[in-house]
Amino acid sequence: MTSTDHSRTDHSRTDHSRTDHNRTDRAGRDHSDHDSAGTGIDRDSGVEGIRDRVATQLARARQRSVALIDAVDDHDLVRQHSKLMSPLVWDLAHIGNQEELWLVRDVGGREPVRQDIDELYDAFKHARSARPELPLLGPAEARRYVGEVRDKVFDVLETSPLEGGRLLDGGFAFGMIVQHEQQHDETMLATHQLRVGPPVLDASPPPRGGPVGPAEVLVPGGPFTMGTSTEAWALDNERPAHQASTDPYFIDTTPVTNGAYAAFVDDGGYRDPRWWSDAGWAHVRKASLVAPRFWVREGDQWLRTAFGVTAPLEADQPVVHVCFYEAEAYAKWAGKRLPTEVEWEKAARFDPASGRSRRYPWGDEEPTGAHANLDQRHLSPAPVGAYPAGASPLGVHQLIGDVWEWTSSDFRGYGGFEVFPYAEYSQVFFGPDYKVLRGGSFGTDRSAVRSTFRNWDYPIRRQIFAGFRCARDASPEELA
Ligand SMILES: [Fe+2]
Repeated sequence: MTSTDHSRTDHSRTDHSRTDHNRTDRAGRDHSDHDSAGTGIDRDSGVEGIRDRVATQLARARQRSVALIDAVDDHDLVRQHSKLMSPLVWDLAHIGNQEELWLVRDVGGREPVRQDIDELYDAFKHARSARPELPLLGPAEARRYVGEVRDKVFDVLETSPLEGGRLLDGGFAFGMIVQHEQQHDETMLATHQLRVGPPVLDASPPPRGGPVGPAEVLVPGGPFTMGTSTEAWALDNERPAHQASTDPYFIDTTPVTNGAYAAFVDDGGYRDPRWWSDAGWAHVRKASLVAPRFWVREGDQWLRTAFGVTAPLEADQPVVHVCFYEAEAYAKWAGKRLPTEVEWEKAARFDPASGRSRRYPWGDEEPTGAHANLDQRHLSPAPVGAYPAGASPLGVHQLIGDVWEWTSSDFRGYGGFEVFPYAEYSQVFFGPDYKVLRGGSFGTDRSAVRSTFRNWDYPIRRQIFAGFRCARDASPEELA
């Protein structure tokens, strides 16, 4: 795939329906589907609690967008740092434009702020590589525009009933826009990673690693509840909750580390077709791949460049910036395979003691800094074992945060999938072209990830913060 495509975060709205549905409240938590009572919202606090949460989340998202934008000068905002990415100033105005379409015009029923720019910021109309040539709003104008939209949105939020329709219930439309902004913030963070020049972003180093127990965990076979029908801000592709089943399998306790991956590279893995699928081998040769993106060889050691800083590779951090084909090849070299999406979610949610699926590996409570490396709190993945409080009941670590994890699954709708609120959110991407990634990265905000959250991308994609972990079938002897 070339750089002319759009990405998951470029969703544009065209049309949508206002299908009503019955909202599931906290009392519904233990209904037939055993889906955890995830709402992201304390429903007990009612509509005012939702209003407060929306306001807080909108402000958090904007604070992050502004920090990513203000880190560079106007020249850097309008130029294209890579053909794979939009100019940063496009992302900013696009964030505002989607917010205007959904919250000002649709939810709020207000007059347009800038109808004349809708076409410019429709991701389906212009490939990323072509966006610098568009008559985009300049940095000052874009900042003014998103500010004006946001003022109106707070006005809409004050008066919205936040119930009485599927778009409104639980603040869904607001939650969708919060997640959209945070997803673009992660995309802008990826643009920062591709930018050449002195470092402009700053963050504290991640916490130290620790013991993680055995290298693999056995997940028992049988059914569990996958997806969700109760999480208020879950997107259409995460729905509905349904029964899925697996055979018993082993899954790695942690994501594959730089040190483990370097052994594959140094073993000649990139020159040996035995480890690669046909498509992967064709790609690795065509693109002349020799190591993960941003790895630099110096003498007999590997360095890695991250956000303008080049330093020796941290052996115990999860590998990042590998494409699906590289993940697949490593797994084969290691005598394993990638987990399916079903296997990944079962490892991240299933509690064998209760038979219930949790919102997160550690339980139902919202992520904190003790659970997972999220929120761009740090500018790299954390070493394995850094988040013991975030482990699953079976002892699987770092499923949420650090790196998006490639799975072997194509992106498809679950049985009972319903488009909401528009086909361009998910449905147009269903099919064999995209592979599913799970779990979020250090650059993902906590509002935009959960154990049901599904990301998808092309199997050649490397600029995203993606790594992986391996799985394998359990043999009869191991189960005896
Ligand atoms: Fe977008």
